[in-house]
Amino acid sequence: MDLQLGNRRILVTGASRGLGYATAQVLAAEGARVVINARHPDTLAEAAARLRAATGAEVHAVAGDVSQADDAARVVQAAVAHLGGLDGLVTNAGGPPPGPFEAFDDAAWYAAFDLAFLFHVRLIRAALPALRDARGGSVVAITSISAKQPIPNLVLSNTMRAAAVALIKSLALELGGEGLRFNAVLPGWTRTERVTELLAYRAQQKGTRVEDEMAAQARASALGRMGEPEELGRAVAFLLSPAASYLTGVLLPVEGGSYKGLC
Ligand SMILES: NC(=O)c1ccc[n+]([C@@H]2O[C@H](COP(=O)([O-])OP(=O)(O)OC[C@H]3O[C@@H](n4cnc5c(N)ncnc54)[C@H](OP(=O)(O)O)[C@@H]3O)[C@@H](O)[C@H]2O)c1
Repeated sequence: MDLQLGNRRILVTGASRGLGYATAQVLAAEGARVVINARHPDTLAEAAARLRAATGAEVHAVAGDVSQADDAARVVQAAVAHLGGLDGLVTNAGGPPPGPFEAFDDAAWYAAFDLAFLFHVRLIRAALPALRDARGGSVVAITSISAKQPIPNLVLSNTMRAAAVALIKSLALELGGEGLRFNAVLPGWTRTERVTELLAYRAQQKGTRVEDEMAAQARASALGRMGEPEELGRAVAFLLSPAASYLTGVLLPVEGGSYKGLC
């Protein structure tokens, strides 16, 4: 199947490593023209160079903290300027810290709101004019399986992910008449730096070893292993692509059967 991503102009935020990077790699390998973003300019520039070398695609780097209103708008404007427009947007960033409910004051909740919910709003709002111009513009939000099944000790993340998928479904309904599509992926446990950090925290809390927590988490999925970032990236690329032209409002779990509910 041809995903028809050749020469599509796409911004992927939170993309110097992990799920965002893997998504950008799949898109670039499919011939898309890509802008990647992250906070740290050095590692971002290295990531862009690696993507160019691996795929031969046009890849630009725009540093910025998408949890900050000004930066989110600036990153979108820079992407549109580099690419001459925008056909697709992948909204992604880091995740809020782990911890029990009583560990978090209002400042922590507001920070999580900016980082895991409001950044989707800000990026999409800034990108809408260009996505409209593109005719057939498409957005995929990277959220979490915790929107369906909360994860212990991740109350900040669990709460914001539920709001994020409600946003995506609402936008699909509100803006579908303009030919715009909005979908979300809900990753389960996928092998990235964030997962190593979360399981190190869990091991510390329980007095176990991080390797044992990694193995236990892998066994908890139907497939008996964690996901690889590119497995998530392929799902994002498909939903974003014209090949998924009749898919909108989809909240797609990508989690190897670790979610045990019916729907
Ligand atoms: N991996 C999983 O199993 C999993 C499962 C469910 C949900 N998720 C969620 O999916 C998202 C990506 O996860 P990941 O595992 O790929 O995380 P990761 O390994 O920590 O990578 C996060 C990426 O986003 C960038 N980033 C972080 N904060 C940012 C900000 N404020 N503005 C711009 N860029 C930012 C980081 O670079 P800089 O540090 O340079 O900014 C890095 O490139 C997170 O929200 C995570 O909670 C992950």
